[in-house]
Amino acid sequence: MPNKFYITNPIFYPNADLHLGHAYTTVLADVLARFHRLMDEEVYFLTGSDDNASKVARVAKENGVTPKAFVDRQAVKFKNLFECLNVSTDDFIQTSDQKRHWPGAQKMWRSLVAKGDIYKKSYSGLYCVGCEAFKAERDLIDGKCPDHSTVPEFLEEENYFFKLSEYTNKIKELISSNTLKIVPPTRKNEILALIDRGLEDVSFSRPVKGEAWGIPVPDDQTQTMYVWCDALVNYISALGYGQADDALYQKFWPADLHLVGKDILRFHAAIWPAMLLSAGLPVPKAVLAHGFINYGGRKMSKTVGNVIDPLRLIDEYGADAFRYYLVRELSLFEDSDMTIEHFKDAYNGSLANGLGNLVSRVMKMAETNLDQPVEVNPPADKAAMADYKQALTDFDIKKAADITWGLINDLDKQIQETEPFKLVKTNPEAGKELIAGLVQELYTIARMLNPLLPQTSVAIKELIKSNKSPEAPLFLRKD
Ligand code: MSP
Repeated sequence: MPNKFYITNPIFYPNADLHLGHAYTTVLADVLARFHRLMDEEVYFLTGSDDNASKVARVAKENGVTPKAFVDRQAVKFKNLFECLNVSTDDFIQTSDQKRHWPGAQKMWRSLVAKGDIYKKSYSGLYCVGCEAFKAERDLIDGKCPDHSTVPEFLEEENYFFKLSEYTNKIKELISSNTLKIVPPTRKNEILALIDRGLEDVSFSRPVKGEAWGIPVPDDQTQTMYVWCDALVNYISALGYGQADDALYQKFWPADLHLVGKDILRFHAAIWPAMLLSAGLPVPKAVLAHGFINYGGRKMSKTVGNVIDPLRLIDEYGADAFRYYLVRELSLFEDSDMTIEHFKDAYNGSLANGLGNLVSRVMKMAETNLDQPVEVNPPADKAAMADYKQALTDFDIKKAADITWGLINDLDKQIQETEPFKLVKTNPEAGKELIAGLVQELYTIARMLNPLLPQTSVAIKELIKSNKSPEAPLFLRKD
């Protein structure tokens, strides 16, 4: 039986189109999904859309369509983007799907009630619609949510609450012991510090006001489930939890990795495991929180007007160039700043002049001097390959990309130093051998590129197989 690897993406809010920051989470997850498939593991890679947020209903209204029509339209756009990014998702779940998602969300709710972890109370507080979360005064800067630069609304209502506080010690123990591994360690420490300050019970429902949107609380039609309580369940509802056929759930749960941005780590590292513990279900094995991408020194946001449309860059540079930038040129765990100039420089430097040029040089020499394609071998014995595999096993995607580009640079240097194009003229046999060795090295690189730049990996392997140099550069220089 092959090992299984269940990897998830956050489900995206469909109130706006996805920008480069969102695409980042998906590309990172795709690299890991592809790597684990290469390791012959049975992979399930899930993403979807977080339809039931109150901000979605608002935007739909502004657009003059029903919320359901709006989210379905957005889901088509999201899927199109993922296709353009060449991400290999196995499934896309919409939380407005009453057949696939609602039974699981409601089953979870009933389990929490059965455990005695849901109670009703009157509540007033400051609610940030951007975060879909209540905020304490201490979380605000100048009275505004630091993530959305908006003043939260004051709400006073009767809600159901979830006894998150009861799970403080258990969650602390799970995280400290790495039973629930939080990557990187700095984020693990942050979460442990948050837990040490004490986890407070969370509001888990909202009263229905006006047109109902969201999942009704079982046995109380006057309340809708809080969007995070509903959204987190997507990770198991998509596998059939709460439905007649839950074979996928039996096979793939618990998740091997939830990949999320740092802003939503606490939902995944505290609230979600507490819900699972309360329902008596296994907790995920790991959560990775990546850093944020800022543009020109500021958080990418629609209001600031600095969001980058991934489709624009993919159109101009191609999906692999876009993926390259995300996985190699940005810091995985810290925040990074990007600009279009930086993107272009990186493209010209590492892809057009770097990898693209290298492929042309090696394959030109092979085509001119070798009578037949080199019979390449899987590079099992290469030390760099072992480091690369270890890096990806540890979810360190950037490190794996750095190791790959290390080999690309080494191979470039090797050509400069050994000058096979000269040697082949003075000593044809030795020259040919040298060139065949370079092709083998290039093959190793192509294999390593497989999860990172899948199209380029295939293109290089095809050239090696047919012993041809590329008709056009793999990456055309941009001026
Ligand atoms: N709907 C919730 C997730 C629910 S999961 C049960 C949500 N959605 S989101 O659309 O706002 O964000 C989705 C992902 O995009 C998150 O992982 C978030 O961190 C990531 N990013 C959004 N903007 C980003 C950047 N500027 N940079 C990097 N990642 C960013 O949160």
